Amino acid sequence: MDRFVIEGPTPLEGEVAIGGAKNAVLPLMAAALLARGRSVIENVPDLVDVRFFMTILEELGAVCTLRGGRLCIDTTGQDGCHAPYDLVRKMRASIYVLGPLLAFHGRARVSLPGGCAWGPRPVNLHLEAMRALGAELELDGGYIQGRTDGRLRGARFRFEPVSVGATANVLMAAVLAEGVTELENCAVEPEVTGLAEALVRSGARIEGLGTPTMVVTGVGEIGVAMAGGRVTLRGVDPHHLRAVTDVLQDLGCGIAGDGDLLSVEMDGRPRPVEVVTRPYPGFPTDMQAQIMAVCALADGTSFMTDTIYPDRFTHIAELNRLGADIRLDGNKATIFGRGRLKGAPVMATDLRASAALVLAGVAAEGTTLVNRVYHIDRGYQRIEERLTALGANIRREKS
Ligand code: UD1
Repeated sequence: MDRFVIEGPTPLEGEVAIGGAKNAVLPLMAAALLARGRSVIENVPDLVDVRFFMTILEELGAVCTLRGGRLCIDTTGQDGCHAPYDLVRKMRASIYVLGPLLAFHGRARVSLPGGCAWGPRPVNLHLEAMRALGAELELDGGYIQGRTDGRLRGARFRFEPVSVGATANVLMAAVLAEGVTELENCAVEPEVTGLAEALVRSGARIEGLGTPTMVVTGVGEIGVAMAGGRVTLRGVDPHHLRAVTDVLQDLGCGIAGDGDLLSVEMDGRPRPVEVVTRPYPGFPTDMQAQIMAVCALADGTSFMTDTIYPDRFTHIAELNRLGADIRLDGNKATIFGRGRLKGAPVMATDLRASAALVLAGVAAEGTTLVNRVYHIDRGYQRIEERLTALGANIRREKS
């Protein structure tokens, strides 16, 4: 198992290219199941989770190759509809195959994903919405067993609470359903809008992209293959990061955006902030841990509330091992800023928590060992190389 050894503190300076986002790529990969033929997705990061989703698609009979950021998914002979527990339990996003399989093949057997490190993470909305579209679903031996009588049928469905995964999954299903589907309280995260745009480019009929209400008029087939199937993921769009850059500004960072470039500058200690996670365009739960690491060094007391995942706080104990002073009450953390952090061995507990520990390690004095680096490889491509290029002293070693 790999770990990072980080010698800090080091300031970070320079420019870094941002790769395509994991959460944007995964639904696009699932969408390849909605058509026969070859889909190409560009600017795909070579991440453990991407490789893993390729394994799921291959288990279903697709042929995938990823080279130089170009992912080809060939579904010509794809006929499998069984996503087994052994795969799904390793990555919850595997549930994304449910909508496309039901819509395209009229059948699916997909393992129910379990909980995750920070809580139960239900999929009830995915199931309720598929049922609303006419799928017959049974839960049997830990599996979602689904079939349809002919095509799925358009329906009206309201997501409560708003869910990124359920919106994406149901959107993919609705694209091939018969008639009109009205989806209310949809997630408006950029990855959902990116998926909707890609589907439209492939021949789907969707109105209301990027808004909470999307109306999908089902089509008989979409032409990923016929259209050449080129789906492009763009570089960084500073608008998508607005909630994050606002908080960075409150922390005292200088922020400048120019086209797809975003620069962040920081001098001196951060100022304390109060942050509440919310669905997009609010502050993302996926940045909660990293900003908390910054708050640990702030000149005052910060507050961080996670309304999306009330239990997503496993990083607190680890940050405290580095000398942070963070206390948790329910879903609200109080971060008493300290002048310095001090290196220590810590354990990465999940993807974003790991990123927070790496950041804290870069800022801490002395040596920080971040164990269980595999979490971070799921979502950040060679983070140690990028940070090294920016001046950090971080290396990967076998532990
Ligand atoms: C996605 C992201 C994850 C991010 C999260 C919130 C991917 C692969 N993962 O996860 O990184 O942290 O969005 O931005 O894109 N809920 C239900 N029933 C459901 C589904 C969700 O009650 O059927 C609840 C959840 O418990 C949570 C809230 O809805 O409180 C939002 O979850 P959701 O947006 O679905 O998260 P994911 O799509 O799983």
